[in-house]
Amino acid sequence: QNAWKLADHPKLPKGKTIAMVVLDGWGEARPDEYNCIHVADTPTMDSFKTTAPEKWRLIKAHGSAVGLPSEDDMGNSEVGHNALGAGRIFAQGAKLVDSALASGKIYGGEGFKYIKQSFDNGTLHLIGLLSDGGVHSRLDQLLLLLKGAAEQGAKRIRVHFLTDGRDVLDGSSVGFVETLEKDLSNLREKGVDAQIASGGGRMYVTMDRYENDWNVVKRGWDAQVLGEAPYKFRSAVEAVKKLREEPKANDQYLPPFVIVDESGNPVGPVKDGDAVVTFNFRADRMTMLAKALEYADFDKFDRVRVPKIYYAGMLQYDGELKLPSHYLVSPPEIERTSGEYLVHNGVRTFACSETVKFGHVTFFWNGNRSGCFNEEMEEYVEIPSDVGITFNVQPKMKALEIAEKARDAILSGKFDQIRVNLPNGDMVGHTGDIEATVVACKAADEAVKTIIDAIEQVGGIYVITADHGNAEDMVKRDKSGAPQLDKGGKLQILTSHTLKPVPIAIGGPGLKAGTRFRNDVPTGGLANVAATVMNLHGFIAPDDYEPTLIEVVDN
Ligand code: 3PG
Ligand code: CO
Repeated sequence: QNAWKLADHPKLPKGKTIAMVVLDGWGEARPDEYNCIHVADTPTMDSFKTTAPEKWRLIKAHGSAVGLPSEDDMGNSEVGHNALGAGRIFAQGAKLVDSALASGKIYGGEGFKYIKQSFDNGTLHLIGLLSDGGVHSRLDQLLLLLKGAAEQGAKRIRVHFLTDGRDVLDGSSVGFVETLEKDLSNLREKGVDAQIASGGGRMYVTMDRYENDWNVVKRGWDAQVLGEAPYKFRSAVEAVKKLREEPKANDQYLPPFVIVDESGNPVGPVKDGDAVVTFNFRADRMTMLAKALEYADFDKFDRVRVPKIYYAGMLQYDGELKLPSHYLVSPPEIERTSGEYLVHNGVRTFACSETVKFGHVTFFWNGNRSGCFNEEMEEYVEIPSDVGITFNVQPKMKALEIAEKARDAILSGKFDQIRVNLPNGDMVGHTGDIEATVVACKAADEAVKTIIDAIEQVGGIYVITADHGNAEDMVKRDKSGAPQLDKGGKLQILTSHTLKPVPIAIGGPGLKAGTRFRNDVPTGGLANVAATVMNLHGFIAPDDYEPTLIEVVDN
């Protein structure tokens, strides 16, 4: 096991209790009325910047710094926590799918050959998020896959989409459906029987995560697989437009609907001999559906009918569970993460968040791997999230509970690293409710205070950072940075993440005097944090990790 042994840091001691706090969706942006972090009362986060500027800095959290295809790609929790935990930058799903499609390699792979078995007599179903947000999926990739599948011999294709409005502007789904319809009609002209079969809003249909609410997945199953939904339409564009007319309706929460033929029969239930591809590359919100599609002994809801299908994911979503067993593109191989190194070097870890972000500080942190590396050295605690609400009605979420669990873990003396994710800025930011997001930011700040107070008591060290921006900017802006209005003169609310950098602060009584941020890593990003934290645990990071952000100067 010597390969796992980390060298001692020449200056920093071992045995300090370290709190590693990730504020989800907490970026740094211009201070104006749409910056909820600025508007909110956040004395603790503010104090890091003002009282110890040599121990506060900004780091990159988007684009190539986290393995995304371009600098126009905003950060997200998957790639952010991957980078934080792995200490290196891996080409992420979005990028891997781009190149597999561009080279055509996707069609020669095992996964595509597997689903191809349905092409003679069955239907190819494509299920996923219809969006150009680039967080879970991308519309252009879906369109390429449709075209490619037709060229490879698919004769009957059905698309089951989820509308977004979370990684993109609310209302943009109409345009995406129109684009999709156009491509499907092109395919029909070429003799392929290609149609949209069902739809629904991502947060209400299918895309739950971390087993927060199986009803969400069931609604999707009923529409996609069984062909049953409360709403029936002849056209998907009409469906989305109509359902959006309901008061308070939005893309994220559209109810499920199916498309029916002239006799009122659903056009695309899944049958024996069909193939299904879930075309999201990101794992967290596809894993539950993948289980329903793949597991024989599934008991989370009554599937009613379980067709014998050829199922493949765009990627394999869980490397540990090998789920799904067939996939079109190999996922990034994120191995030798900092969590795995640290358990091999005697660091005992406690990780905690509430359900909606629990997998972020465990699964994503550990390179898309479920479970602990070593049960004796690690404890992962999930605080159940409130179910069936949008978090603007409960903007404090479980921040206090998470902070208290972290505090207790710190004071217990049983752990060397206490790692938490505070979801408020992100989850409430995604609702687009500015007032609620201000409350959310304050709650997260208070949680940070509770945690650093505990660190103070045990003589420990804290590292406070974020995975990407969200709450710091709630409006779409023009090039000059001014808020943009829509055609009706209404402010365009930004529910999505941003391209902004995020802060990182270190401190606490256990931090050796003279420890500060280096100024020779100006381009530092989330991937530099792992080496930094390893140093604070008293170790030197492996050679291939991105460089540490800190130095220790003798005074
Ligand atoms: C979501 O899945 O909620 C959003 O698409 C992205 O948010 P996250 O990356 O912060 O989880
Ligand atoms: Co988010």
